[in-house]
Amino acid sequence: MKISKMVSDIPASPTLSITAKVGALKAQGQDVIGFSAGEPDFDTPEHIKEAAIKALRQGKTKYTPAGGTIELKEAICSRTRNDYKLDVGPDNVIISCGAKHSLFNLCLTIFEPGDEVICICPYWVSYPPIIKIAGATPVIIDTTTTDFRLYADQVKEAITKRTKGIIINSPSNPTGMMYGKDELEKIAEICLENDITIISDDIYQKLVFDGASFFSIAALSPEVAEKTFIIHGVSKTYAMTGWRIGYCIGNPEAIKAMTRLQSQSTSNPTSIAQEASMAALTSDQSLAEAMRKTFEGRRNIMVSKLKEIPGLDIIEPDGTFYCFPSIKGLMDRFDGANTFANFLLDNALVAVVPGEGFGSKEHIRVSFATSEDNIIKGLERIKQALT
Ligand SMILES: Cc1ncc(COP(=O)(O)O)c(C=O)c1O
Repeated sequence: MKISKMVSDIPASPTLSITAKVGALKAQGQDVIGFSAGEPDFDTPEHIKEAAIKALRQGKTKYTPAGGTIELKEAICSRTRNDYKLDVGPDNVIISCGAKHSLFNLCLTIFEPGDEVICICPYWVSYPPIIKIAGATPVIIDTTTTDFRLYADQVKEAITKRTKGIIINSPSNPTGMMYGKDELEKIAEICLENDITIISDDIYQKLVFDGASFFSIAALSPEVAEKTFIIHGVSKTYAMTGWRIGYCIGNPEAIKAMTRLQSQSTSNPTSIAQEASMAALTSDQSLAEAMRKTFEGRRNIMVSKLKEIPGLDIIEPDGTFYCFPSIKGLMDRFDGANTFANFLLDNALVAVVPGEGFGSKEHIRVSFATSEDNIIKGLERIKQALT
């Protein structure tokens, strides 16, 4: 079968591939410790599941408007007004089958061949492929040499006449880094000057540590908000990765066009999942906060244990559920993160995600979306395997 050039060029998501490999090994009875998960290990809170069951019983099992129900859009607006102090209405919102789908719709709607879109490396694995599917070219800013900090000067240098967009992901998958308000201000100014659309992927908004407050570039000023699309969803905050509900907030004209695209592809995201997401967004947030707190405790353990492993170098993540240690100190033994990750799976039965998919062969992503016991046991195994 001839496969189109566009699809032939798309790599499978490396994070999902590793997770599948770990699942297969576990099914064979192998005692694998998985540090590869890109999702909370908690179950979806009971009241959210109950909302879905209620929706089923009430017969909310039909098509909804292609861009999502007005009720869920209102709930998203209310949360956004509260969290971002942004004045948004339902016309600013599209609900899709996950944040990834919203981002996909957005890139196909606003970028085209010849456009350049800036991504900050280490980047989430799906940014470059999605930009390429839209026919545009990803332009990479490397922050592995600046301790994952992003400076406005780096953005300035990356801009050409073709630059149409920049994707900001703070806190970041895979580094856990949060960008400061001062630097975001300078970056936003550069974007306004150069007519560059900002995509702010805020999916980890609620997973920040050490009492820090999350700050989105979209919240800087009405002018910046107008140039920004927020990508968000319920997956990470409410342990709802399988429900597939994400959303995009931004310019109404673009949202309308994205909705047309969605109406000719997936149509609406699942009606029952939309009802469950409404419960997630509008109910008491204490369960989400409890999960965040647990992640923070695990982050502390993981960082301190990683520091004990010779050859690894770790910058403490400000948020998310990932550490992204450097393996530079081991490069005399391994020619890159892929080889190292395979070594760990074969010799320590520990699964990590190699950094290549995030743009760095000198790092691995180690997820702490697993129990404290697993963290301690898994990192001990890595230490043993290396000595
Ligand atoms: C940075 C980032 N953006 C978006 C997504 C997509 O999330 P969703 O499950 O809502 O599609 C992920 C998931 O891993 C992510 O890490």
